[in-house]
Amino acid sequence: MADPRKQLAKKYTLDNRYANFGETIKKITVNGFRGVNGLDVEMNYPILAISGLNGAGKSTIGQICLSGYRKPDNVEKGYKRYYVRDFFPASAADPNPFNPDASVLFHYETDDKDSPQELTVKRNQKEWSGYKRQPHRKCFYIGFTVYIPKVERKDLSIYKGSSFALTQRRDIPDDIKIKVGRILGQQYDELHFQGIRHGKNKAELGIASRYGASYSENNMGFGEGRTFYMVDLLERSPDRSLFVIEEPETSLHEHAEYELAKYLIDVCNRKHHQIIFTTHSDRMLKAMPSEARLMLYRDINGVSSFEGLSSTRARAMLSFG
Ligand SMILES: Nc1ncnc2c1ncn2[C@@H]1O[C@H](COP(=O)(O)OP(=O)(O)OP(=O)(O)O)[C@@H](O)[C@H]1O
Ligand SMILES: [Mg+2]
Repeated sequence: MADPRKQLAKKYTLDNRYANFGETIKKITVNGFRGVNGLDVEMNYPILAISGLNGAGKSTIGQICLSGYRKPDNVEKGYKRYYVRDFFPASAADPNPFNPDASVLFHYETDDKDSPQELTVKRNQKEWSGYKRQPHRKCFYIGFTVYIPKVERKDLSIYKGSSFALTQRRDIPDDIKIKVGRILGQQYDELHFQGIRHGKNKAELGIASRYGASYSENNMGFGEGRTFYMVDLLERSPDRSLFVIEEPETSLHEHAEYELAKYLIDVCNRKHHQIIFTTHSDRMLKAMPSEARLMLYRDINGVSSFEGLSSTRARAMLSFG
């Protein structure tokens, strides 16, 4: 069977990229955000795995990419596009998260592979400018707080646990159930989402059945709940969306990290998403082809990048050799 990593690379060659992935980000040049200056980041693969020591600037790059697109027409009510200001809040405690002349130059693919569209978002006095002509695309940020166990945040399903009503059920296709099970190394009899309501408040709960038991996400493992949530989102979002995922390995066992990396390659092959993820996981880096790896390194001179490293060299950077 053909290597899915190579299949994906083939779809992403410059000749095929626009037809398959649309107005995807080809490159960004970042100037003046959290000490990241004059840094070019090229997307040489539909997935970019950004790694490096804590504080290197990984999340900074992912967050900036999310600010590169306008809201598509016909999105559901409540969908909000991301802006730079959402991620770099200034305050008395944090006077300069960006420089007064900070800018990001976005290069987007177009139907002419030799002429990418270039647009700059930059700081002008007290405002950011440059959003108006951006392409339209649905963007998702799977940060750390997107999936928090409902028990920890005292959700409706917890504090009204004795009195909420069940509403609509949302079924999960069988093949998605199998994919979630493969990542987690277990077999599910069934997975679905259950709507709940209390007064005007509504929520949705993931429900799983295995080993003869049925349980909601309120009694799931964290890795299990987060994986279920993440896979569901990747599968039901429109094709060619942009996903920025913070440390998807969070709470996963060793084999699940590797299987999740394989799944990300699989979903990009099917749905032509662009996925940027930050990671400290040697296993996830190893599962990616070298052109998907980006290592960041910060020292007194700023942040530098190393593209296309072998997994051994990437690991050496993370483990101090
Ligand atoms: N105002 C600032 N000026 C310069 N550098 C800053 C400023 N604010 C934050 N930083 C740098 O940005 C870093 C945080 O960047 P970021 O969140 O992108 O790191 P990260 O690589 O995602 O880290 P982690 O692996 O811990 O999530 C800080 O550790 C600090 O070095
Ligand atoms: Mg981070």
